[in-house]
Amino acid sequence: MNKTLVLITVLSTFVQMTMMSQTPKTEAKSFQPLSYIQTDKKAETILKQMTLDEKVALVGGDRTFFIRPLPRLGLREVYMSDATQGVHIRKNFKDVDLSKYQLEQSTAFPCPLALAATWNPDLAYQYAEAIGEECRAGGIGILLGPGMNNYRLSQCGRNFEYFGEDPYLRSKMIEEYVKGVQSTGTIATLKHFVANNTDYFRRKSNSIIDERTLHEIYLPPFKAGIDAGAKAVMTSYNQLNGEWCGESGTVINNILRKELGFQWLVMTDWWSVYDGEKLAKSGQDLEMPYAVALKDAQTLISEGKVKVNDIDRMARSILRTYFAMKLGGRQREPSYLKRFKQHEPVALQTAREGIILLKNEGGILPLKKERGTILLTGDFVETLAMGGGSATVQGYNNRLMLDELRSEFGDRILYVKNPDRDQIRSATIVLCNVGTSDSEGWDRPFELPADQDQRVRECVANNPNTVVIVTTGSGIKMTDWSGQARGIIYALYGGQTGNKALAEVLSGKTNPSGKLPMTIEREFKDSPAFGYIPEGESLYTGWNDAQEKIRPVCDVRYAEGVFVGYRWYEKKNIAPLFPFGFGLSYTAFEYSGLKVSKEKFHQTDQVTVTFTVNNIGKKKGLETVQLYVQDVESSVPRPLKELKGFTKVSLKPGESKHVMLKLHKADFSFWNPETRGWFAEKGKFVIYVGSSSTDIRLKKEIELF
Ligand code: BGC
Repeated sequence: MNKTLVLITVLSTFVQMTMMSQTPKTEAKSFQPLSYIQTDKKAETILKQMTLDEKVALVGGDRTFFIRPLPRLGLREVYMSDATQGVHIRKNFKDVDLSKYQLEQSTAFPCPLALAATWNPDLAYQYAEAIGEECRAGGIGILLGPGMNNYRLSQCGRNFEYFGEDPYLRSKMIEEYVKGVQSTGTIATLKHFVANNTDYFRRKSNSIIDERTLHEIYLPPFKAGIDAGAKAVMTSYNQLNGEWCGESGTVINNILRKELGFQWLVMTDWWSVYDGEKLAKSGQDLEMPYAVALKDAQTLISEGKVKVNDIDRMARSILRTYFAMKLGGRQREPSYLKRFKQHEPVALQTAREGIILLKNEGGILPLKKERGTILLTGDFVETLAMGGGSATVQGYNNRLMLDELRSEFGDRILYVKNPDRDQIRSATIVLCNVGTSDSEGWDRPFELPADQDQRVRECVANNPNTVVIVTTGSGIKMTDWSGQARGIIYALYGGQTGNKALAEVLSGKTNPSGKLPMTIEREFKDSPAFGYIPEGESLYTGWNDAQEKIRPVCDVRYAEGVFVGYRWYEKKNIAPLFPFGFGLSYTAFEYSGLKVSKEKFHQTDQVTVTFTVNNIGKKKGLETVQLYVQDVESSVPRPLKELKGFTKVSLKPGESKHVMLKLHKADFSFWNPETRGWFAEKGKFVIYVGSSSTDIRLKKEIELF
């Protein structure tokens, strides 16, 4: 796994990073879980006193979102709540009364993909810490996030819940996310393990992935989360290479537990397992939302198919986790409500740093102060664009685009939902919003809905000063109008304060610094995942449970192997519309002076990479500098570039800073299926430093011997 440490030296002019003033809580102040050994003893003591009935009851969830209480032995119920972008308030679910644990309000943070677009792990910590605190306020013991599946295809309905296409970026963000949530004593649940990268009939989807690809692309963020101390993992709906993940010994016992070293609670995704016997032996601990596969556990035991030991193992693991995080008696803690006022600023800062400026021809942005009508149009002007499904967070003080732009630009804003040609032509500026409402349960087309596509084409065709504001949770097709638009702002679902940040970017109060955590292709057929939908079938919208039930399992072949995202587009020489890591600023940065500590180095050596970044523009700004590595002489096909380091530098106009990034053996390695281990091959490597995956400013060849 990748163990690169990205270090920034803090020598006089050598500096740092984020503009956030808040610093993460120190470890000492954080919640301290009990160790495995400490909890093992406690779990054993309780287990010995439990009847078989009680154990069987414990390993199946209770009332959809609970771990079952056992008052006789002093075990309290534990409530779990979705998820990654904030607390999903549910008063009821399928007739289950959940009101006891619900907050009056919870902060709607920008979606995790927007968080990934900040490329700021410190913010990930603060964001997750805030969510952990809101869980404490509501008595929620387990947060059912972070979601961290890979952005393999732009159509995936859940991309907004995840952290983009690159395993290194995802890992760095997840590591801090887990630490942030758990610093509050709330459990972070890594989900969905593993390879759940489409929501198209997700319960009938079999991800076929080779071992090297699994290790290089799909497992690293989980490993990062586990190493950061995550106390829960949720398995996925799909099959991996023909086995349902939630009841697969290969997936749970072998990969998750033995290889990645996970020791704590494993739970199924909701209604995702079928075979009680397999499940009990797979390393799975808790069937959610209640026992279905293990409904007849007693019969399976009497037939000798499931052993009492299997049930004991499951119960023991639940108990260990319960004790480690001191979940007993978690109740609403009103003192945490006071912290809410610190949460909205974190959400706002995430939105600010997560907005991506994709195009700014002739410096149309920030909008000039002079008068003139700004025609505002689009589908998400009066309603908030947000993702649906279990990840939904309604938020409070939700700021609408119309209100925020009016408060920034006053009566210059003329809002017309469907403007005619004359209105478009006569405006000084047109702000045309397009977007999608992505959700769990289905994938959505890469193309915009026809009416929105039509509207944006009308705008760019009739007014040369059109800036398109995209509010979405994933990549969308922009190819037909992006050339004509003067400006494009990519605002991934921004949560309750997203539109405030957007208004600040438009006016110039905030200098945009977001960078794409995924590639945006020109056409969906360019994507490595193209063809994932069986021939003759097409996308659907809405829950399609009836069809899903009768449908056979369908294979999704990850034939591209490790060449996902920019790795694919570079290998195939397909120019995307906007590359991974790309995002503009209102200022400009110059890179110089790349040095490496050695040109020839041994596998065990650390390679120190230094260079200077200079703000040569007129505004203060943040630049995410990116380091990619290429293995030039390799015995296996390797990507032309792989991200292995990044950091965010804040620079005043004219200021320059030195940046130091460190590389280790892991950063040069690939997964060798023959030896089942990471392998750094001797030979030449190139180190690239740049502002995006394609905007490389500096490079240097080094050799590994
Ligand atoms: C989702 C999970 C979620 C669970 C509980 C499932 O449908 O896939 O991500 O945590 O529901 O709401």
